[in-house]
Amino acid sequence: MDKKDIMSYETVELDEQENAVIILDQTKLPNEIKFLHLKNQEDMWQAIYLLQVRGAPAIGVFAAFALYLIAKDIHADTWETFYDSFHKAKEYLNSSRPTAVNLSWALNRMEKVAIENKNKPIPEMKALLLAESKKIKAEDISMCRRIGENGLTLIKDGDGILTHCNAGQLATSKYGTALAPIHLGIERGMNFRVFCDETRPLLQGARLSAFELMMDGVDTTVICDNMASQVMKNGWVNVVFVGCDRVAANGDVCNKIGTSGVAILAKHYGIPFYVLGSTSTIDMSIKSGEEIIIEQRPPEEVTDMWYKQRMVPQGVKVYNPAFDVVDHELITGIVTEYGIARPPYTESLKAIFLKHYL
Ligand code: MRU
Repeated sequence: MDKKDIMSYETVELDEQENAVIILDQTKLPNEIKFLHLKNQEDMWQAIYLLQVRGAPAIGVFAAFALYLIAKDIHADTWETFYDSFHKAKEYLNSSRPTAVNLSWALNRMEKVAIENKNKPIPEMKALLLAESKKIKAEDISMCRRIGENGLTLIKDGDGILTHCNAGQLATSKYGTALAPIHLGIERGMNFRVFCDETRPLLQGARLSAFELMMDGVDTTVICDNMASQVMKNGWVNVVFVGCDRVAANGDVCNKIGTSGVAILAKHYGIPFYVLGSTSTIDMSIKSGEEIIIEQRPPEEVTDMWYKQRMVPQGVKVYNPAFDVVDHELITGIVTEYGIARPPYTESLKAIFLKHYL
């Protein structure tokens, strides 16, 4: 694979001829650019669980394509028999990771198409499922671009931006959310100094954000997670931009573990803390972050991964939550494709949903 511009890489793609979902394997970055061609349910489930595809919006797009391919392969004479297999596959994919709402959001959209078109011939319904999966991806690209435009109004040329995890092109279909304003700014000849928290334990900041920002020519510095306070104290950070996996109706934001610590630091140093995410990541059915299920991951990610040998004593207890919740009171604004929601979020998020979804 030739080295190309990060913007021309497809994070998630459907190959209709090959009946495969093609993903850029994020577990191999930054050392290897490898694409996986996934064709069966088990591999698709594993791809989400192992974070070969990751980032809330990318997981949603991937799940939609995956469910379409599974549906395409169901041979049934009646809708009921089709739906039985379809629903099982949907639930199976949905069990791969619990926290990012985009997974169930995309799968529910696909299921709605199957149910609403139950009286149509099965091939026709499958064509509608294909169209819906493509629509989910196209919408993701357009939402991210608009988030980028809205986020760009918050920064100026030369600003220092701190980000946590990877909420960039690699986590979406294009541009990203937290990194979208940076990519758009670069397109327009601006530059920024971006500090990427390495993001223990899976290093999405060091491996992925740094990779995509460097490829886009951004002035990028990787810091260990425990260095953020020092970098802020030095006066190098004008703003914090992070993504989100699920936003509650009161504005509590669930994102990669460590995000809440960054928000607390930003408040201490008087630095604006913005969350950037599409409305597909806002879950108006939950009142607060307390209702969010936090994924717990295997201890080896903390004890062994990336090290030549185990780095903690045998038998020690390990706590490895993949996400945490940022209290809404620490958040300066939530940047969506429909504009920037400001506190009180119970009202501003509701207003966005009333205007665009009802
Ligand atoms: O465990 P990951 O890598 O899937 O976690 C990703 C994040 O926490 C991102 O910040 C979030 O999904 C937003 S991506 C636009």
